[in-house]
Order: sequence, then C-alpha cells, then structure tokens
Amino acid sequence: MLSELDQILQKALQELETAKDESSLESWRIAHLGRSASLMLLFDQLGKINKEERPVVGRRANEVKQTLEAAFTKRIESLRQSTLQRSLQTERLDVTLPGRSLPLGRLHPATISMRAVIRAFGDMGFQVYRSPEAETDDYNFGLLNMPPHHPARDMWDTFYTSMPNVSLRPHTSPGQIHVMRQYATEPIRAILPGVCYRYEQISTRKETQFNQLEVLAVGKNITLADLKGTVSDFARRLLGQNIRTRFRASHFPFTEPSAEYDFECLLCQGKGCSVCAYTGWLEIGGCGMVHPIVLQNGGYDPGKFSGFAAGLGTERIMMLKHRIEDIRNFWANDMRFLEQF
Ligand code: PHE
Repeated sequence: MLSELDQILQKALQELETAKDESSLESWRIAHLGRSASLMLLFDQLGKINKEERPVVGRRANEVKQTLEAAFTKRIESLRQSTLQRSLQTERLDVTLPGRSLPLGRLHPATISMRAVIRAFGDMGFQVYRSPEAETDDYNFGLLNMPPHHPARDMWDTFYTSMPNVSLRPHTSPGQIHVMRQYATEPIRAILPGVCYRYEQISTRKETQFNQLEVLAVGKNITLADLKGTVSDFARRLLGQNIRTRFRASHFPFTEPSAEYDFECLLCQGKGCSVCAYTGWLEIGGCGMVHPIVLQNGGYDPGKFSGFAAGLGTERIMMLKHRIEDIRNFWANDMRFLEQF
C-alpha cells in the first residue's frame, strides 16, 4: 500500500504540472483530492489492513494528502499571479491620458434668476409663500376685483381647464388672496414665486409659460413711499447701487393707485440701445397699493390696513442681465443655451 501511495503522489504531481488554468486545476482537485479520488478510497480501506501496518500507512496517506493540498495551493497561487502579471502588462493603464470629465448638472437659468430675486427680497425680510398653479375663476379674477365679464380680464389670456371654473393662473396675484386669508389680520411681508400660464401668441418676448414673483406687504400705515422704496432697493440689491428706477402711472383692477416700473437699461446704462428700443428704460412689472376691495376679500379692514403689491417676470431679469434676445430659449431645452449659465 505504501508503494501505491507513492504512485498516487507521483502521478498527481505530474498532472498538476500540466494544469494551465483555473478550470483544469479544478478538475485536478476533483480527480486527486475529491471524494472518489484513489487517495480517498485508500483512506476508506485503512480499517481493513492489519493493526501493525495501519499507523504507518495512515501517517503516509496523511502526508501524501497534505503534500497534494499544499502543491495545489501553491500552483493556483502562482497561476493567479501570472494571470495578474499578464493583465498588468497587456491592459496597462496610462495615467498620463487626460481623464474623462464627469458631466455635472447645473441650475436652469430660470432657477438661477428666480433664486437671485428671492434672495434680494429675502434680505429685506420677505418670506416665500407657495400658492397653486391652477386656481378657480374667483381667485384668478373675481376676488381680485374683476367680476365675470369685466373687460380687464382681457389683459390675461387664459388657459381654461376641462374642470369647470378652474383655470391655470395667468399671474401670481391670486396668491395674494391665499396669503391674506391665511394670516388675516397679521401684518404680511410675503413673496410668491412660481410658474404662470397664458394663452399667448408666442414671440421673442412672450411665452405661454413663465415665472413670476408676486410681492405683498400688508399692515398699518403702509404707503406708496414704502412701495417705491422697496422696489428701488430691490433693483439696487439685484443689479447694483447705481441702477435707476422709474414709475409710470398705470391701471390694474386689484391695485389703486397702480403703476408700472422700469429699470434703467443695463446694456446701455440708459443711453438707449436696440434692447430698450432706444428709451434707456426696461419695463419690469406692475405694482400698486392693494385695492380696498381686495384687502377686504383677504379679510383685512381697509379702514385700518393698507398694503402694496408688485409683480415681476423673473426670466425678464435674466434676459436683461445676459442680453438674451428670445424668451423661447428658456423652455426649448437646447443644451447649447443652457450650458452657458
Ligand atoms: N399681476 C399683474 C400681471 O401679471 C402684475 C401686478 C402684480 C400688478 C401686483 C400690480 C400688483 O400683469
């Protein structure tokens, strides 16, 4: 039996030499160390041989088993090493090649603009208030002092929905009613940002979808001077200390008196250019003192309270700052435009 063990050892070691990859090594392991390997069968027969021989043969069999196991481990290690070496050689990494840059996301220009506007008002103590994009006819118009069939409604081309009485908001002004009703009769200093929708003939200046920001202050003794001061201060915070502003009388059903306000053209510093149609001024939005009826609809006694409101298109601001000549760029999803900000 001892010579049989020697043969098993010799044969196994020879075959191990020829195993060149992991799968042939695995077949080798099954053949020589697996359950039905001749070595293992020999262990089973140990019980049948006589007492004197048994320990000698047993010890030798164990030695052979350990030798084979060690040889197998060594072989598989060296095989792994040489595979690694080979792949290091053939797939060598050239660290001097320029890396691939990760495409980082960025903010949309409309968001950048909105955030700058919110920051400027935020610094003046105004808080953001969210209001819905779809509103009832009452909120969009009625409570803002425009009863059905009032001709002023024509100023806001409107998307009506299939739900009776509900339309997409054409301006952020309905939010005024929501804030007032929630906080009456506390003083209010709120800004209401968000998307508005108008059934418009799309042009370089007009889109069916755009962002507005509504400004609302309600309290005791709020005057037109507060409105002018706030809007002018906002202009300076956003566009620099030297920017000039002007107010022109206008009309909105929900403010009395009403005005439109302009900022000095940033591109020509008021000298006059094609962007400002050679006037030196750029129209930014509408404003005025909150109409007594609107105050009342919001739950404030117009005898005791007053307030001012203003609205502005935040994409407009971005257009002024960056000389963007077509508002359609904002929603066209053209990366060449978006990546510039
Ligand atoms: N809601 C008006 C518009 O969209 C702007 C405005 C807001 C006017 C607040 C006066 C007061 O045109």
